[in-house]
Parts: sequence; structure tokens; C-alpha cells
Amino acid sequence: MRSAVTGRNDDLAWLFDPPPAGGGLERQIYRRIRSAVLERRLRPGTRLPASRRLAVDLGVSRGTVVAAYDQLIAEGYLEACTGRGTAVTALPDAMLGAPDAATAESTTAPASSTRAASFRMPAIGGGLDASCFPPGVPSLDTFPKREWSRCLAARARRLRAADMTYDNAAGLPILRETLIGHLNPARGVVAEPDQVIIVPSAQAAFDAAAICTTEPGDLIAVEDPGYPHAREVLAAAGGVLAPVPVDADGIEVAALTRLKRFRLVAVTPSHQYPTGVTMSLERRLRLLDLARERGAFILEDDYDSEFRYAERPIASLQGIDGGRTVIYVGTFSKSLAPGIRVAYLIAPPSLATTLARIVVGKGQVVAGVVQAALADFIAEGYLAAHIGRMRAIYAAKRDALVEALRANLPSEIRVEPPRGGLQLLLRLPDRTDDKAIVHELAAAGIEARALSRQSLRATGRGLLLGYAIAPLDAIAPAAKQLAAIVSRHLDG
Ligand SMILES: Cc1ncc(COP(=O)(O)O)c(C=O)c1O
Repeated sequence: MRSAVTGRNDDLAWLFDPPPAGGGLERQIYRRIRSAVLERRLRPGTRLPASRRLAVDLGVSRGTVVAAYDQLIAEGYLEACTGRGTAVTALPDAMLGAPDAATAESTTAPASSTRAASFRMPAIGGGLDASCFPPGVPSLDTFPKREWSRCLAARARRLRAADMTYDNAAGLPILRETLIGHLNPARGVVAEPDQVIIVPSAQAAFDAAAICTTEPGDLIAVEDPGYPHAREVLAAAGGVLAPVPVDADGIEVAALTRLKRFRLVAVTPSHQYPTGVTMSLERRLRLLDLARERGAFILEDDYDSEFRYAERPIASLQGIDGGRTVIYVGTFSKSLAPGIRVAYLIAPPSLATTLARIVVGKGQVVAGVVQAALADFIAEGYLAAHIGRMRAIYAAKRDALVEALRANLPSEIRVEPPRGGLQLLLRLPDRTDDKAIVHELAAAGIEARALSRQSLRATGRGLLLGYAIAPLDAIAPAAKQLAAIVSRHLDG
């Protein structure tokens, strides 16, 4: 029976009924004693049976009991008293009485926060099983594995203690410099190395940019339709999103002008997501003028500008502006692979130090060895070679998709080949329910995204189809199947 408060409790049968059984015996013993302590069923000062004795009673090895006791001692639930065995610690009242989380399965978990609700979109798809047509996922079977692993292994071999400190958390100098060397000719980006900040994803860059430039409740203008995952982080950072329509020249600056006050405007000028339009030069200049006039910053998301199939890419807004008003964001998620987890911000000089502090403070940093390997990968010309090769492959895949859609869809549907990027927007008449079509496609094993899901206000119906990850020979049959489903919806 249970002994007096400070006596030895040699009989813990009540605590071990039914006895622990099956795998994880040490964990089971640990949990039961911890719960009994937290729920005051074992009083402070109560001495526990000797480990040898409890092991015999429970039919387990002594080592199992010793390991459970040691863990409970390490966490402060028990204490080892020299010459007197192991006893229950006197815990602060605040820790006692509440049911132990591990055992109170029936209690309802506390609710998540209101701002957690900003993250409602399904994750970007395109796992290895998905072949047609997850948008935004590059081809992965053509990833330059040999060159990448060579760069990574060489850097890993040369790793020094200095490479494993907290230094340079916002970006290794070698990658910052190499990136400028790559982005200046390719995108017209003008910057000094300390304006380059390395982050694991464009998402992390959007978050840092919003925190750096806005107070909670400030207006952040976003393209509508636009990239939902950017909206998620901008809203979670405290921004109030103001949707601005997009036409054939990009974001409608006239509509933006009507917004009384905005601190940040997020745009995808090279290849608007999801419509695919390129912002005209005139629009770029007007947007820059307006931002300067209003004292606002522009967040330029240049996510897939590497892939243009006809003409040369237009220079970035950052380059036109000279980098004063524009926070430029690039990612290797499209040009290499999302799993590389490297993206970058080019900050205006006035924000560079603050932005670097935010990303480091939030722990949004990338392993130094990966950064150094990437710098070598770019400097040795592997990135440019990969992009050149992928441009040709993606152009062929895009053409296959366009051809199959044109051959199988009714003439009422116009199929416009995108001039760049990894996806095609198939616009559908307003009477169609694009979400229902996406649902039906998913049941047939085809992934697509509904245009109406990319919008805050009603901005038309359509399907966003990624052709990059799809094997070339799978495109035509999947497009035919897709066209049949779409046609049924048009008729119905
Ligand atoms: C418009 C846009 N921006 C950024 C990204 C992604 O960047 P990251 O993977 O670096 O977060 C995507 C990916 O689909 C995108 O479509």
C-alpha cells in the first residue's frame, strides 16, 4: 500500500496496473511516474522503490527502470538522495494538478491562433508521384546531380571550424558576390554584396520584407489574381492585403493610385503569377514613380524569370530603379529545385542591415556549406548550362501541351502559349466552376490549380497547368483526358 509522505513506497502496484507491456517499456514507466507526480498521486518526498526491486516487480530489466528514473531525475520530477534512493521532487504549484498532456487524451487541445488561419492554402503539390500538371514545380529528373554533388562534396571536405560558427548567417560573402556577378548581366540587378541576403525560400524573403517595411495593419498591395502563398505570409506578418487588378501590361497602376496609403506593393513583373503577362516598361516606370511618390517599397518577386522562350527577359525593376525602392527576391526553387532551399533578397541599401537582422533573428538562414557549394556551382558555369538546357526542354513540353489542348478542346477555348515560365493558364468561360474541374481532375490523377483560388476578388475562371515536371510523353495523353473533363463541364 501507499506509504506515508516521506516513506519508501515499495508497492507501486496501483501505478503499474495494468503492467507495462510491449515495446517502449522505459517510456511507459517514465510516463506513468511523471503523470502520477504531476497529478499529485505521488506526493513530494515520496521515495520510490529501488530500481532493482521495481524491475523484479515489473518483470523488466533493471537497466530499463534505471533509464526511466534517470530521465525523470534529469527533467526534475525525481531527485536522487544520497543513501536514501530516489524521491519525488517538490514541484511548483503551477506545474501540478493539470492533467499530463501525454495521458489526457480526452482533453481538447487549445485552438490555434487567428493569424494561423492565414495559412489555409494546400501546400504546393508536385511530389514525385505527380506527373501532370502541378504548377510551379521544375523538372527534377534532369537535376544536375553529378555537378551539384561534386560542388557539395568539395566544400564539405574543405569545411573549417570558421565555417561552422554563427558568422555570416545572412549570407556567405562568396555567394553574395557570385550572385551579383550572375544577376547583373542576367537581370540587370545593380547591388553591392552587402545588399544580398540569403534565405531558404522566397516565402522567407516575403516575410522579412513585410516585417521590415510595414507596421501591423498597414496596407500591402498585391496583384489579383496573384500568388496565394505570398499573400499568406504577408497577411501573417500583419499586413492588410489590398487586391489590385492585373491587365495585359501587369498590375494596374491606375487602380493602385486610388489606394490612399500603402507601404508595400508585391509584384511579379517578369512573369505575372498566374496570368503569365510581362509588365511593360511603361508600367514599370509608372509603378516606380508611384512608389517613390508615396514613400512605399516594391517587392519584386522574380521567381522564374530565367525561363523565357522567345525574346530576352526584360531587366528587373530593381535594375531600372537603381535599387532604392525595390526589394528584389529570387529563388533557386525553379531554376534548380525546391529542395535546394536557397533564395535571396537584394535589399535597398537603406534596408540591408535591418533585413539581414530580421532573417537571422527569425532563424531563416541557409547552411554555409550549401551556400559555398552553390557559389561554386554558379561560378563554374553549371547553373547557366542547366538553365540553357532546361529552357529547351521546357519549351518542348510547353509546345506539346499547347498542341494537345488545341487539338482536344472546343474552339471556344483559346489556348495561349506562355512566353516564359513553367506553367500555362488555360482561361475558361465565367460560367464554368474551375474548382469543381480541379476536383474531378484530381480524381483522374491530374493536378491543376483553379484560377479562382488564386484570386481575392472574382477575376475569371481557368486552370493553371504546370508542364515542367511532366514527362514529355505523358503530356499529350493527360491533356487529352483533361480536355474531355473540361468539355463535359462546358456542356453541362
Ligand atoms: C510566384 C511565386 N513566387 C515564389 C515561389 C516560390 O519560391 P520558394 O520556393 O523559394 O518559396 C513560387 C513557387 O511556386 C511562385 O509561384
